[in-house]
Amino acid sequence: LPITTLRRVDAYLEEYQRQKSRMKESFSDLSFARLNSNIDTEELLFKQRKPLASNKAAVEEILRQRSLQMRDQQQAWQESIEGRRMLKFRGRLPAYKEKEAILLAISKNQVIIISGETGCGKTTQLPQFILESEVELVRGAFCNIICTQPRRISAISVSERVACERGEKLGESVGYKVRLEGMRGRDTHLLFCTTGILLRRLLADRNLNGVTHIIMDEIHERGMNEDFLFIVLKDLLPHRPELKLILMSATLDAELFSSYFSGAAIIKIPGFTYPVRTHFLENILEMSGYSLTHDNQIDDYGQERIWKMNKQTPRKKKSQIASAAEDAVRTADFKDYCLQTQESLSCWNPDCIGFNLIEYILCNICEHERPGAVLVFMIGWDDINALKEKLLMHSILGDPSRVLLLTCHGSMASSEQSLIFEEAEDGVRKIVLATNIAETSITISDVVFVLDCGKAKESSYDALNNTPCLLPTWISRVSAQQRRGRAGRVQPGECYHLYPRCVHDAFTEYQLPEILRTPLQSLCLQIKSLKLGSISEFLSRALQSPEMLAIQNAIEYLKIIGAFDENENLTILGYYLTMLPMEPNLGKMLIFGAIFNCLDPILTVAAGLSVRDPFLAPLDKKDLAEAAKSQFSHDYSDHLAIVRAYEGWKDAEIDLTGHEYCCKKFLSAQSMKTIDALRAEFLSLLKDIGLVDSNATGCNAWSYDVHLIRAAICYGLYPGICSIVHNEKSFSLKTMEDGQVLLHSNSVNARETIIPYPWLVFNEKIKVNSVFLRDSTAVSDSLVLLFGGSISKGDADGHLKMLGGYLEFFMEPAVADMYQSIRQKLGDCIQSK
Ligand code: CDP
Ligand code: MG
Repeated sequence: LPITTLRRVDAYLEEYQRQKSRMKESFSDLSFARLNSNIDTEELLFKQRKPLASNKAAVEEILRQRSLQMRDQQQAWQESIEGRRMLKFRGRLPAYKEKEAILLAISKNQVIIISGETGCGKTTQLPQFILESEVELVRGAFCNIICTQPRRISAISVSERVACERGEKLGESVGYKVRLEGMRGRDTHLLFCTTGILLRRLLADRNLNGVTHIIMDEIHERGMNEDFLFIVLKDLLPHRPELKLILMSATLDAELFSSYFSGAAIIKIPGFTYPVRTHFLENILEMSGYSLTHDNQIDDYGQERIWKMNKQTPRKKKSQIASAAEDAVRTADFKDYCLQTQESLSCWNPDCIGFNLIEYILCNICEHERPGAVLVFMIGWDDINALKEKLLMHSILGDPSRVLLLTCHGSMASSEQSLIFEEAEDGVRKIVLATNIAETSITISDVVFVLDCGKAKESSYDALNNTPCLLPTWISRVSAQQRRGRAGRVQPGECYHLYPRCVHDAFTEYQLPEILRTPLQSLCLQIKSLKLGSISEFLSRALQSPEMLAIQNAIEYLKIIGAFDENENLTILGYYLTMLPMEPNLGKMLIFGAIFNCLDPILTVAAGLSVRDPFLAPLDKKDLAEAAKSQFSHDYSDHLAIVRAYEGWKDAEIDLTGHEYCCKKFLSAQSMKTIDALRAEFLSLLKDIGLVDSNATGCNAWSYDVHLIRAAICYGLYPGICSIVHNEKSFSLKTMEDGQVLLHSNSVNARETIIPYPWLVFNEKIKVNSVFLRDSTAVSDSLVLLFGGSISKGDADGHLKMLGGYLEFFMEPAVADMYQSIRQKLGDCIQSK
């Protein structure tokens, strides 16, 4: 570590001591809430300031007046022409017919479970029924309904729809709140939000005072937050007897939830709105001139079934599109895909996606089918982009001006995602390529055709090796049903499943709940920040409890990174991490950046880790793309390459040449914009928790010291670390848990033959066949010794083990002591800051 950097560290230390006295602030519950951006402080203040008895009557009178006003407004709307039309539409939904029964059940039970087919009106109607009945009873202003959605995009789009059905603007009686975005007003009594937002509200107000109804939608998805919330709510319900909990899903194991909530009432809403014609692979192939033949060779597994082409040309009409479709059918890829159509799931590679089959169906739809948008469910960002590129490159779908090709995946900003809801002009075919985020809760009203590849990326977790995996896997039958349900929401639809029926039948019914298949560190932080007692005891009360080993790994991890002390209590660092709604490693990095005044590049690193690889590699221009990327990659760091690329783009944006810059450098303009948006998000979070001066206009002054940035990356990513073992002409990598690991071919370090550093830190290792590291940054011994781990007292033992006795064997005791004392100083300073 250069002496200049050490001097700077010393200078920083002095500066902190000075700032420390200024920054001291007591963390009473209220300032805690103020620091937390997601909590409505005003609301909290209102509730904490208990009105005096005389005041109380006055407040109630005001609320009653407002309730009356709400009732009159709603009545006027329902009598207007538009309102009557809307009411007529709603009246036809199956849920509407059950309105009285549902309201009665809610009044009689504390917990109600509601299931009904997709499109029957659960999401849009149920919360409204409750609001309407409260308004009618002149209790509108007294109620406070919270409806959770698994994703941002659904919370936003559903709230818009419900406001529209009530003839209001968003932010009147209906609003939404997702991370860092929201629309709610004084009179908002029905709030759609993500589950995460409700959890954060619990942080400030354990009893959820003032909330009258909690509706949890799409609970079959069983995300980690939902399972967590179940435990918290189950504990809370006896203390809040007037609080109602309503659980909804199209496809849920109602009995399981009912028994968890001690025999909660179950209501099933019958019926489906519009029919969806379903085609499986065999039907699609038959349409295209293939048929299934039985080959006579019998193997161990039974009869082999093979798809053979019967006729040469499936379509008589020879338009441009029809011949493109035929070409697609004839390719090797298509045949490969079809040949895999065996009768079991295991011999079918879930990575394989039938691009040509999709192309073929899209061609046919464009050529022969009635108007209507197409929604294609793909696996992830990579194949969405590959398909998009392919479709655009060959203009297979005919006149490009007649096609509107849109994409939708999780790492896009909400504003970009919402483009998919806009209707295309007449005569233009809208095609949306989406991941499973478009699977539940949303209605793209012009969608008539759905293509379902049957796969999704699923995170899983190998607790034994402490390795997270993110692999394409088959979806569940429930997911297939949800995907089918996206067609025919407003008119009859068609669904093409790109796999045979027998494969569908072999899917598991439900996906494994997230809590059983992901690392638990964020969850453990949350449990501690809500002061819910022992982590393992708390989690043993889950609907399905995670493995003990997974829990221990998470606790161990949090101790290593310094978020927990030896007794599993939150440290100050841990406390700050709970206030940053992101993975702890990103949070740690940002905190470091803020403290050491190098936030600007760290914002980019953290944002870059949250989006997909911004470096594009088009198949036909691979060499050019690599050459362009190598201009950014002289630091042996993928993270720094993104920083350099982003800065180049930002400069170009000032001259309005950002787009050209991206084309020239083979960068995804969309990723750059998302990084830009995320940077702003992260900065405002840091301001909210008081780590960055809230009046600062830009990011705090940034000093381009690559060592310091490396240090921040190391501080955040540790214990994601592997050692570099150099051989004569190359190197290999080893981690403690996995032994040999490999670099992802896109990594800048994968192109090197020598890396002049002993360690690589990484954010993500993924097990495919071998264990791969995605992005990595090379770091020196000094950085690992100084910034790896928690930088807290007593941690050196862990380091000694981790570094294979590095200190003991290779360092002079005096030098080791020096490191130790610097670590200690740094640790003290970070804890006190
Ligand atoms: O939640 P569930 O699947 O039961 O249905 P929903 O989201 O409440 O939607 C009920 C119906 O409202 C859909 O079938 C659509 O016909 C209509 N709807 C719409 O036209 N536009 C929207 N943005 C949302 C729903
Ligand atoms: Mg729904």
